Amino acid sequence: MTSPEHDANVTTADAVNDEEHRILASLLEKVRVISAAPDRDVEIMHALTDMYLYAKKHFFDEEALMERLGYPEREHHAALHREFLERTHALVDASLAGKLDFAELSRFLANWFTQHATEEDGKITLFAQRRARGDA
Ligand SMILES: [Fe+2]
Ligand SMILES: [Fe+2]
Repeated sequence: MTSPEHDANVTTADAVNDEEHRILASLLEKVRVISAAPDRDVEIMHALTDMYLYAKKHFFDEEALMERLGYPEREHHAALHREFLERTHALVDASLAGKLDFAELSRFLANWFTQHATEEDGKITLFAQRRARGDA
């Protein structure tokens, strides 16, 4: 099904998305490396802040891409992005309060990102490819 308002010039889940995923993955890796070392709370907060702000930017761009594509599950997908940001916020607070290990937090972030990028973002790519072939 093609959304009537989609932008016909967007035929792939474009290169910007892949590039942003690479940047986000490297920011998450930075969080992982720092969180594995003891007593680096200030550095880890900087790394988490960088990751969080970039994730927000990426989600904004990806949601705009879904809009242009006329991707039918865009509202559900955007809700997953919001949940991630809220959960990350809560987990950072828990980590600062000493209730959660930063390494554990880092694992949650990396696992979420890997699963989301593969499964959920992958659906956007498949939709864009189907649409490019005229099947969507
Ligand atoms: Fe993404
Ligand atoms: Fe996404």
